[in-house]
Amino acid sequence: MQELVIKGPGKINGTIEISGSKNASLPILISTVLSKGSCVIGNVPNLRDTKFLISILSNLGCKVNFKNNVVAIHNSTISKKVADYDYVRQMRASIVLLGPIIARYPSFKIALPGGCAIGTRSIDLHLDALKKMGVQIKILNGYVVASRKIKRLNAINHRFSKISVGATQNIIMAATLANGISILKNCAIEPEVMDLISFLMKCGSKITVNQRTIKIIGSENLNLSNHEIIPDRIEAGSYILAAMATKGKITIKNFLIEHLEEPIKIFKKMGLKIKKIDTNEYLFSCNAIKPINLIQTKEYPGFPTDLQAQLITIFLKNGNKSKIKENIFENRFIHVPELKRFGADITLNSNTVIVNKVKELNGAEVMATDLRGSFSLIIAALLSKGETTISRIYHLDRGYEDFDLKLKQCGVNIKRKK
Ligand code: EPZ
Repeated sequence: MQELVIKGPGKINGTIEISGSKNASLPILISTVLSKGSCVIGNVPNLRDTKFLISILSNLGCKVNFKNNVVAIHNSTISKKVADYDYVRQMRASIVLLGPIIARYPSFKIALPGGCAIGTRSIDLHLDALKKMGVQIKILNGYVVASRKIKRLNAINHRFSKISVGATQNIIMAATLANGISILKNCAIEPEVMDLISFLMKCGSKITVNQRTIKIIGSENLNLSNHEIIPDRIEAGSYILAAMATKGKITIKNFLIEHLEEPIKIFKKMGLKIKKIDTNEYLFSCNAIKPINLIQTKEYPGFPTDLQAQLITIFLKNGNKSKIKENIFENRFIHVPELKRFGADITLNSNTVIVNKVKELNGAEVMATDLRGSFSLIIAALLSKGETTISRIYHLDRGYEDFDLKLKQCGVNIKRKK
């Protein structure tokens, strides 16, 4: 398995272009199963997860071509009605295939996603809403076996008991073909959800958003349309935090800064300087950190859970008793033991980490555990003296397009080792 070797200490100093959003690409590519026809989706990041999803769609019978960040997709019919465990266990996001496929076809079988490094990843919110839409659901041999006798799904008036990105996306997609008007309340409103809605409206769906309430007027069919994926705000936030932690500076191109409004307000309080260079292009720099003693992850527009691990690295050498509270996932601190191998002073108290600064960190052999936690190991390596080796870097390849090339462009001494 490939490893990363990073020589520290290092500073982020350079320019990078943000890729398309992984978490907008996945639901949008999946939503194309709602209709026959073809479309071209641009600015799709070339990642393990997007390539993997494309293999799932091809396995189901879609014709998909992916080249130079452009996906050309042709969905005449979904010939296979099963999403196998081998696929689903490797990418939990595939559960959002269920809504659109059961809206278009009378039956579908998909493996239960199972747990992962950051939590149980339950799907009760997805299944409860689909049952209300008239889908019969059976759990059998580790699979969700879904079927319906009704010609079209029922439109529903439904309030999610908990805010869920995936469940919101799944049910919006199902509702686009339902018989009538669906009103969904307590929805997730991340930019990635909004980008899915923008694509579905281009395909002819009538959707309106009012705070966390989303109204969808169901139709008999949709017409696939071309679309350009939004930039990846989590990729951008990860590089901004890397520049802050190493007191460097980074110009970020192709970045919709409004997608990180809340986090950037916090970063500015901590000493981040921002200069607008051009449309969607900003220079970020930081030469001293003013620690904040408590930051909590929240649903959008709050501080994103996907930046929690990277944020911890800011406090490894700054501030005392800085607290970061994880409110979204029940087990999203699996990167903490790896960070401690660099000599970090971090204690875990239920879903809160407490970080005390240390004078020095030293390079170590560490293991990537999940996508975002793995990026925090790269930042910690840049704060450390000596060489760091990071194993299982396939986690990084899932969500950060060309991260090693982009970091090299910013002056980092990093190389992949077979
Ligand atoms: C999406 O995951 C993202 N993934 C995650 O990014 C992100 O961390 C998460 O939203 C929260 O923002 C994609 O978009 C592909 P949720 P999702 O449903 O949809 C609980 C990354 O690094 N829950 O919003 O799976 C769940 O356990 C990934 O790019 C239920 O209890 O997240 C969690 O505690 C990691 N029942 C909370 O809700 C359900 O039926 C939020 O999960 C569904 C979720």
